[in-house]
Amino acid sequence: MRDHGSNAPVLPPEIARRRTFAIISHPDAGKTTLTEKLLLFGGAIQMAGQVRAKGEARRTRSDFMKLEQERGISVSASAMSFEYGKNWFNLVDTPGHEDFSEDTYRTLTAVDAAIMVIDGAKGVESQTKKLFEVCRLRDLPILTFCNKMDRESRDTFEIIDEIQESLALDVAPASWPIGMGRDFLGAYDLIHDRLELMDRADRNKRGQSIALDGLDDPRIEAHVPTELLGKLREEVEMARELLPAFDKQSFLEGHMTPIWFGSAINSFGVKELMDGIAENAPAPQPRLTASRQVGAEEKRVTGFVFKVQANMDPKHRDRVAFVRLCSGHFMRGMKLHHVRAGKPMAVSNPVLFLASEREIAEDAWAGDIIGIPNHGQLRIGDALTEGEDLRFSGIPSFAPELLQAVRAGDPMKAKHLDKALTQFAEEGAAKLFKPAIGSGWIVGVVGSLQFDVLASRIEIEYGLPVRFEQTQFTSARWISGPQDKIDAFVKANRGHMATDHDGDPVYMTRLQWDIDRVERDWPELRLSATKETH
Ligand code: G4P
Repeated sequence: MRDHGSNAPVLPPEIARRRTFAIISHPDAGKTTLTEKLLLFGGAIQMAGQVRAKGEARRTRSDFMKLEQERGISVSASAMSFEYGKNWFNLVDTPGHEDFSEDTYRTLTAVDAAIMVIDGAKGVESQTKKLFEVCRLRDLPILTFCNKMDRESRDTFEIIDEIQESLALDVAPASWPIGMGRDFLGAYDLIHDRLELMDRADRNKRGQSIALDGLDDPRIEAHVPTELLGKLREEVEMARELLPAFDKQSFLEGHMTPIWFGSAINSFGVKELMDGIAENAPAPQPRLTASRQVGAEEKRVTGFVFKVQANMDPKHRDRVAFVRLCSGHFMRGMKLHHVRAGKPMAVSNPVLFLASEREIAEDAWAGDIIGIPNHGQLRIGDALTEGEDLRFSGIPSFAPELLQAVRAGDPMKAKHLDKALTQFAEEGAAKLFKPAIGSGWIVGVVGSLQFDVLASRIEIEYGLPVRFEQTQFTSARWISGPQDKIDAFVKANRGHMATDHDGDPVYMTRLQWDIDRVERDWPELRLSATKETH
C-alpha cells in the first residue's frame, strides 16, 4: 500500500518538509495539553496553561475548541499549521469523544502519521486501542508519547510490553525515563545520546539538554544521583538487549512505534517528540483513487474534502470544507474542477489555519489542509482537481447505530429545522433520512451523546428547541444491485424505506431479522452498513 522504498519519487523541497499528523488518545491522557505544547513550541501560541473544564463537558468538545474556550485563544479550526525548524507541521484535530469515531476515522484519512498519547499509569486504554485499529487499517506510522511520567507510573518495561502485546506493534524506546513520580528527573535520549532534564520550576520551558558520550560518560554523574544512575544503566542495557532498535522502514510501514517518555504539562519530552516527527514521520504520501494512485509530487493540484464544519464564526454563518491537498502547488484564485458536481469552482478565499487566526492562504502545497468557505457545494468525500475525474478511495460513511425522529418544539419552524438538519448532515455530524411514508426526519448517529450535542447546537445556532423521539427503527442499510431489482424492492418495502442526504435509497431495519429476511428473499441485492462517500 505505502511506498517508502528507494524508488519513491523525489518531492519538491516545499512538499518534502511537510508533516501532516493527528494525535490519538483515550480521554484524559493529555492530548489537549500536548497539543497546547506543540503549538507553543511551534510558535503558534505565546503561552500555555492548564486546561480547566472537567469530565464530560471537556470530552464532548474537540481539543481545539477546548483550547479556544478555556484559554481564550482563537484556534477554532480543525487544523493548525506552523513552522518547526526546517519543517512545516500540519496538526489535524481529532474529536475527543468516542461517539465521534466516524469523524475521527475521516480525519485520519487526511494525515500521514499519528501521535499516540498514553497515560504512564494507565497504559493502553480502550479508546486508544480503537483509534489505533483505525490507524492500522491505513498502515499509518505511529509515534508514541507516554505522558504523565511526573506521576506514579507503571514500570517502563511493563508499559512497553503492554503496547507490544495489546496492539501487536514493535516498540522501540527513543528515550528512557529516569525515576518517576516525585523522583522523575528526565530521560536519556537513546537516539541522540543526550541527557534531558525536566525543568520543574517553569512548566512552559524546556529543561537542560546535555550531550553525552553514552551512559558511561562521567558528566552524567553531576546530574543523576548514583542510585537512579545505576538503575538507568541497568535498564538501558536490558532494553538494548531485549527490545528492538528503532528501524525507520518498519516504523513507516506501521509495524513499529518509537516511544518517548515525558510530561506534557511540564513541557518535558515534547521537543524530542517534535524532532522525532521532523526526522522520521513521512512527507506527504500518495493517495489512492478509484482509477490510480496520486503522488504528492504531481504538478497538478488535487485534494479531497474530509470534513465540513458549519457556523465556525456565528457572525458569518459560513461553512468551511476542509481539504487535504494530495498533490501540486495550490495558488489562491485557482479554478478547480469539482468532480462530483462536474463544475469548475473558483477558490478565491481559501483559509490556512495559522497561529491564532485564520489567514487567507496565498498558496499551499500537497500535504497541507486548507479551508474553503462555501455555501454547501462541498461535501465530505468530494474531490477537487485541475480537470481529471478522480474519486479518492477510503472515505467511508458508516451506518448509524441509533435512530431517532426529530421534531421542532415549535411546529411553525419546521422549515428552519430542515435547514439545520441538512447542514449537520453535510458536516457529517449526523445521518439524515427522509422516510418514504409520512413527514419529518429520522436522524441517525453512532453514539447517543451526539443527539444531545445536535439538540444543543440546533438550539444555539438556529434558536430552535427540538425533541428527539424513539422510532421503531434501529439501524439503516444502503442497497446495491441491479436497478430493476432495487426499484422492485423499494416498491415492496415502502414502510421501511427512506432516502439519505444524497438521495440514495436506504432500508431501515428494526431487528437483525429484517436483514436476514432481505438477504433470503432478495438474493440479488446487497445490504451494506457502509457507503463510500462517492
Ligand atoms: P485529554 O485532552 O487527553 O482529555 O487530556 P488533557 O490534556 O485535558 O489532560 C487531562 C488531565 O491531565 C488535565 O488535568 C491535565 O492537566 C493533566 N495532565 C496532562 N499532562 C500531564 C502531565 O504530564 N502530568 C500530570 N501530572 N498531569 C497532566 P485537569 O485539567 O486538572 O483535570 P483532571 O486532572 O481533574 O482530570
